[in-house]
Parts: sequence; structure tokens; C-alpha cells
Amino acid sequence: MNDKCVLVVGGAGYIGSHVCKALQMGGFTPVVYDNLSTGHSWAIQFGPAIVADLEDEPALLKAFQEVEPQAVIHLASLINVRDSIANPALYWENNLMGTLTLLKAMVKSNVRKLVFSSTAAVYGNPERLPIDEAHPKAPLNAYGKTKWAIEAMLQDFAHAHSLRFAALRYFNASGADPGGLIGEAHHPETHLIPLVIRTALGLQKELLMYGDDFPTQDGTAIRDYVHVADLADAHVRALQALEQETSLQLNLGTGKGYSVREIIRTVEQIGRQPVPVRLAPRLPHDSSMLVADPTKAMKILHWTPRMSDLPTIIQTAWNWELKRSSSKLILNELLSSGSVIKT
Ligand SMILES: NC(=O)c1ccc[n+]([C@@H]2O[C@H](COP(=O)([O-])OP(=O)(O)OC[C@H]3O[C@@H](n4cnc5c(N)ncnc54)[C@H](O)[C@@H]3O)[C@@H](O)[C@H]2O)c1
Repeated sequence: MNDKCVLVVGGAGYIGSHVCKALQMGGFTPVVYDNLSTGHSWAIQFGPAIVADLEDEPALLKAFQEVEPQAVIHLASLINVRDSIANPALYWENNLMGTLTLLKAMVKSNVRKLVFSSTAAVYGNPERLPIDEAHPKAPLNAYGKTKWAIEAMLQDFAHAHSLRFAALRYFNASGADPGGLIGEAHHPETHLIPLVIRTALGLQKELLMYGDDFPTQDGTAIRDYVHVADLADAHVRALQALEQETSLQLNLGTGKGYSVREIIRTVEQIGRQPVPVRLAPRLPHDSSMLVADPTKAMKILHWTPRMSDLPTIIQTAWNWELKRSSSKLILNELLSSGSVIKT
């Protein structure tokens, strides 16, 4: 086993690429395992990569044999909530079956440490705020249900096969690498901050604002935004915590929420551009407020979000969107950089 090697499944995605950067900075060698279905070759910048699917068991076993990782960080998933309502089979197949294949390959390869990307969506509509880890779980869509089912699967594998795992329940990942190397690039983009910025930059005509009659101070929905670099840092800490801990479920958020209007106002201030807004009806099951109680993660991981204040989140996301839009093919050169190993 290579003590420094970590297999990062889904490492070519938004959060996974930031996790790879944090691992590299922490002295680890991240090896990306990704099918590039929603990830990007240009995001693979911090170590080698294997392009293959999570459900391809022979490819996974070969990867374990060649890389000999001490642990796996598993971020691979389909993540679009609305799409998961329309196409649940895709989500159960990719997220659940993919994870089952991964866990079986880990057991066969004697790799026993896993950090898993879970989500605040496992809680559904909150019964109380802020949301702590013991809050009832009532996911409202196929996406959240697959994540909650995977957490149950992890418990069973921990019991039967001595798997050690940390399920990290992210709230709203946001922002971009402060060094400008990587950032958010979902297709289609459904996340608020990149959409607001893209509207300010004139890349889309207007921002659809879903509801202004929530029972919040300004009538718009409130979410807990956590900077992607802070999330990435928590993954490295979770790996280290698994030396002592056997199973962890941790909320990764800041404990503070911002409304849609606050996000728009901050983008307008930082970008010095107006954001045209069109009001649309509320989305079904949309909560008025989702805010984490991150006390447990802060204590166990000795973790403090350092970049998750709103101006830093928006400034880094703004810089990234500007870079992306001003040279569309910016990082495409990296496609042919030779760091991608095809299986
Ligand atoms: N972005 C958020 O705000 C947020 C919030 C909560 C939880 N999460 C979770 O974090 C993780 C990463 O999210 P993201 O925003 O970086 O998404 P992303 O789409 O940018 O990254 C997902 C990566 O997984 C890869 N992938 C998907 N299915 C695969 C498969 N079958 N085999 C191999 N690779 C596969 C994709 O190619 C992509 O690179 C996901 O598990 C998501 O559920 C994200």
C-alpha cells in the first residue's frame, strides 16, 4: 500500500478537483478515477488520472492494483436535483450501483478507508434550525434518496468488513480556487452563484428568481454557502481523522445563511454590474431556509471555514467565471497535456 496515494473518484469534477489540489498541498498524491461524464480533463491538474466508469469492476480492481491507494475519496455522482426527479433510474443506477461496485472492489483490494460526498439533501425540509447530524432524514428527491441509501450501505460495509468511513454532508458548495486554476463548471448549471454571475456578465439575459414570498427577512430563500476550498480542506482532515475514528457523519456548512437577494446584491457590488431578475414561481418542495450546525465537524476535524464569507466566495467565483468566459477554451490545452491515462 502506498501511504501517500489517495484514489479520488469523481476527481475531475468541481469539488473533486479542489480536493485533489488540497491533497497535493498536503503532501498526498491524488489519483483521479473519473468517467468524465460531467467532469473535465482540464480540471485534472494535481496528479495522474484513470478515465473509467465506477460500475466497471475490472477497471476499478486494476486501478486498486496499480495505484495501491491507502484510501478512497468518493465524489462521483449525478447531482442535478430536478433531473433526478425526471430520471430517477439514472440516479439509482449511477449513484447507488456505482458505489456498490466501488465498495466491493475496496473490500477485495483490502482498502478500508473512505471519505464520501453526502449532502444536506438527506434531511429534506428542516424540522428545526440549524440542522445538526441527528436531524430526521427525509430526502425529497431521487438524488437525496440515493445519498441517504449510500450512507446506509456504508454502515453495513463498516460492520461486516471493517470499512472506516466519513460521510460528509455538504451544504451549498460555492466559490472557486483562489489561485484561479479550477472552478465550477456544471452543464447545465443550476447553482445560484454561477448563474447570478453569468447574468451580471451578460452571458444570460436574466436571472430567474424562484419565489419572493418565503417567510424570510427579504422573502427569498436562504442557504448555507461553504467555500469549495474549505470543503476540500475538510476532506484532507477527514482522511486523517479516520486513523482514529471508525465512522463519521458530519455536516459541512458554516452555520450562517444568505438569501438569494443578498447573493445578487453582493455580485452587483463586486462585479459593478446590474443583475436583471425575473420572478418565477417557487419550485416544488423548496425550503425557505437550510442552515447547518457544523459544530461536530469543527470539533472532530479541527476545521474552521476560512474562505466562506460571502465576499470571498463571490470574488473567487467571479474571477473564475470571468476567466472562463473571456477565453472559452482556456484550459482545453490541458486535454492534451498527457496526464490522462486511458484504460
Ligand atoms: N456541488 C454542490 O453544491 C454539492 C452539494 C452537496 C453534495 N455534493 C456532492 O459532491 C460531489 C461532487 O459534486 P460536484 O459539484 O463536484 O459535481 P461534478 O458533476 O462537478 O462532479 C462529479 C464527478 O463525478 C464523475 N462521475 C459521475 N459518475 C461517475 C461514474 N459512474 N464513474 C466515474 N465518474 C463519475 C463526473 O464525471 C464528475 O467529474 C457529488 O457526489 C455531489 O452529490 C455537491
